[in-house]
Amino acid sequence: MPVRSTEWEGVYADGTWLLTPNLVPGTVVYGEGLIREKGREFRRWDANRSKLAAYLKRGGRVWPFRPRSSVLYLGAGSGTTVSHLSDVCAEGTITAIEISPRSFRDLLALAEKRSNLVPILGDAGKPEFYRGRLGSPDVLYQDVAQRDQEGIFLRNLDLLPAGAIGFLMIKARSADVAASPIKVFESTKRTLAEAGFEPIDFRTLEPFQADHGALVVMKR
Ligand SMILES: C[S@@+](CC[C@H](N)C(=O)[O-])C[C@H]1O[C@@H](n2cnc3c(N)ncnc32)[C@H](O)[C@@H]1O
Repeated sequence: MPVRSTEWEGVYADGTWLLTPNLVPGTVVYGEGLIREKGREFRRWDANRSKLAAYLKRGGRVWPFRPRSSVLYLGAGSGTTVSHLSDVCAEGTITAIEISPRSFRDLLALAEKRSNLVPILGDAGKPEFYRGRLGSPDVLYQDVAQRDQEGIFLRNLDLLPAGAIGFLMIKARSADVAASPIKVFESTKRTLAEAGFEPIDFRTLEPFQADHGALVVMKR
């Protein structure tokens, strides 16, 4: 099937697969398939492995990622989603904060090949330790799967200019194991709205990611 462009800048599709143009042709990051067409190479973007791909598969409308965007990414893990943002924001910067030294080693290896990736070993709940290393991010993306996920997001609010877009990947069972996911999502939406983030989109991520929701907000 021919590769086609999509409504989301920098994201392509082949049948039901989402794709991003490979910034480092010939290399894979997490075992994803590669597709070559008309002299270009694309990486398959797996919605079961990346909540941002799941957000798009669930019809996500907000897509602020541009070739030169500056993204602050909290909870980078080994860099699965980070690598696709690095493809999309090819001339921008992805500053990736990760607390686990084990995952950070993978991020460092990724950054050796991807010059737009700046990995920082640190705690996303303590932005005072990395704020001096950031410019003015256009987008904040958080996926920490922690009980205090709202508090961590809010502590990073000051780093953003008005009009910046925030993506909070909410793991309902992290916030409260007993509460229904819908109640957790609604409560998070209210808390962020009260703190100066206007909710502009929300998607549950089933069937790709159980009990997860993607909340997209704009800083007022
Ligand atoms: C669900 S995984 C991230 C997956 C990754 N976002 C992706 O899509 O490829 C959550 C990550 O957040 C990290 N994390 C948890 N608490 C953190 C904190 N306070 N600061 C930075 N990273 C944190 C964990 O070590 C873990 O790697």
